[in-house]
Amino acid sequence: MRWSGRRLIALPFVSLFFLLTFFSWKRKEIPNYLPEEAHKYFHPDESHDHEIQTTPAPQAPVVQELVQRPILTYDEAVELNSVGCSTEGVNFDAGSVRDNEQRWREIPSTRISDWRHDIAAYLQEKIESESSAPRKTGRGIVMAAGDRDAVIRARTNIRLLRSYNCTLPVEIFHFHTELSKSDKIMLSELSQLEASDGHGFRNNEVAIRVVEGIEKGNGWKAFEIKGAAIQQSSFDEILYLDTDSYSLQNPESLFESNSWKDTGLLLWPDYTKSHPTNPIWRLVGHQCRDEYEGESGQIVISRSQHQEVLWLVEYFAVRHDEFYGFMGGDRDSFRAAALMLGKKWAGPGRLNAVAGVALKDDPKGGGHTMLQADPEGRWMFVHANLIKHGKFPRPLWRKIHRAAKDRFEGTSTYGNIDPPNDKLGVGVKLRVEQAPRIETFMETFEGYNESLVVVEDWDAYEELEGFEEKWFEFGGVH
Ligand SMILES: *[C@@H]1O[C@H](CO)[C@@H](O)[C@H](O)[C@H]1NC(C)=O
Ligand SMILES: *[C@@H]1O[C@H](CO)[C@@H](O)[C@H](O)[C@H]1NC(C)=O
Repeated sequence: MRWSGRRLIALPFVSLFFLLTFFSWKRKEIPNYLPEEAHKYFHPDESHDHEIQTTPAPQAPVVQELVQRPILTYDEAVELNSVGCSTEGVNFDAGSVRDNEQRWREIPSTRISDWRHDIAAYLQEKIESESSAPRKTGRGIVMAAGDRDAVIRARTNIRLLRSYNCTLPVEIFHFHTELSKSDKIMLSELSQLEASDGHGFRNNEVAIRVVEGIEKGNGWKAFEIKGAAIQQSSFDEILYLDTDSYSLQNPESLFESNSWKDTGLLLWPDYTKSHPTNPIWRLVGHQCRDEYEGESGQIVISRSQHQEVLWLVEYFAVRHDEFYGFMGGDRDSFRAAALMLGKKWAGPGRLNAVAGVALKDDPKGGGHTMLQADPEGRWMFVHANLIKHGKFPRPLWRKIHRAAKDRFEGTSTYGNIDPPNDKLGVGVKLRVEQAPRIETFMETFEGYNESLVVVEDWDAYEELEGFEEKWFEFGGVH
């Protein structure tokens, strides 16, 4: 590189600028929108002082603050995180921790810093380039379907939605290499009024769209599409649904809930809790939250309130090789993005349950469905995410396993970890069997009282009654 005389003269001033930038961030106030656990990251001890920022901060406040947040070493982070997140009697993703812990330990603080800077630059670029883009409006449902099986699930799903008189338009995304001509025809036929079904459904538009900017991965699931599909959809208020997450009521009710009005972001929990060693905490700059990780079978998000979250989720999706290893695929990337940007969310009023065939009363059957609730605690989504991986006998939905204490305190929901919500599910674990087919069982950890898990009949809940008949009637295939 050739340095002109003028540049050489400027060099001391540039250095002085960096130095001042550094000292000014040292004195910076902790932003008040960050939750309390994030504040603990600001003074665990002084040993993270070596993390000197050497680039001038970009303009947008959220972006500026992001790169200035302190970065902890692995050991510092794990020590602090272990205070927040106990692992005793807690169902964390043991397989992922076992397989990845060594790799996580080796992530240097410089890489965390690089990630943050890259994210900040990406968000800044988006903020600048998109500020004049036309505002998206309206409410709608987003799905992703790439093959015949997914198309069939989407069809059953949409027929169910119509049976509740849901009129939201639907956009179905796929990779450009996916979907045969006949799959596309099958989907586009869904846009037609299905009067011939005799159910008198009201029409709702179904559009088929190609996701841009990412290629199909070769994992066992096309995880990467979701984050990008939601961001690229044409709606302002978005309900994302996995094709196998079937609603039990008109989901338009979610947009009437206080949870939605308060936050504009609804997330649902998975069965696994956060682990202190997970690099997600170093990346987002928070102490580990004693909370279940996110499950992305259903997401409700307001673009106008949370555009940066959507960009960040899309960023994680595009760079899934780097990030999805510690976000459980895409499932925890929404919570990670919300935490990183200091956004609050709400969700169901109770923890998720396992549903399936006879479960432990019959050694031949286990769980294949994650049952998710609405903000009031009524069961709302039958997320049947394992029936596509193994053959289960009918009746498919017969029993439920759930934590005996699964209700969030008062009107609080997922997203709130104030005591006693932080203790929900303690002592309860999910056992996953891989053979003869993948299936799940909810149990207690050794040494915990077995009455921490209750087994109930599917039909014991009014909102679940008759689901199976309807699912088959609408073309459900297992
Ligand atoms: C849907 O609308 C029709 C026609 O107004 C009505 O008869 C039916 O009860 C509604 N169904 C539900 C589930 O609300
Ligand atoms: C387990 O809990 C139940 C209900 O709280 C109680 O009645 C029972 O005595 C407990 N059993 C043991 C072994 O502690």
